[in-house]
Amino acid sequence: MSLLTAATKVRENAHAPYSKFKVGAAIRAASGKIYVGCNVENVAYPEGTCAEAGAIAAMVAAGETELIEALVIADSPMPVSPCGGCRQKLAEFGAPDVKVTMTTVAGNTSEMTLAELLPGAFTQEHMEGES
Ligand code: THU
Repeated sequence: MSLLTAATKVRENAHAPYSKFKVGAAIRAASGKIYVGCNVENVAYPEGTCAEAGAIAAMVAAGETELIEALVIADSPMPVSPCGGCRQKLAEFGAPDVKVTMTTVAGNTSEMTLAELLPGAFTQEHMEGES
């Protein structure tokens, strides 16, 4: 199954009664296996989670910690852009050159690397003291 097919399918399961904006995400892990997620909103709005976060959680729960490709899809006028928090989450498990495909259900697609999505990312190196 392709990332597009997987993300399109899981998007249908999104729980988005508040925004009415269903998002699907699919990531390919180093093993080649695809993990999917959808946004899961909550009546206490800040408790909602993004599709990308769900896919990452599924990958980690399955015992994998490296993603090599990602795709996000929504019914949007332009390719859906991962939020700032999700960019950081993706960067935790993907190398800077990992390709992220952003697309709409109508097929309007763009691609960026993780480095392009999150320039100047906060990394482990920032926590290494100088003394
Ligand atoms: N959302 C995602 O799941 N992923 C994105 O990349 C953008 C935004 C969700 C969060 C919320 O449930 C809805 O879209 C509207 O912000």
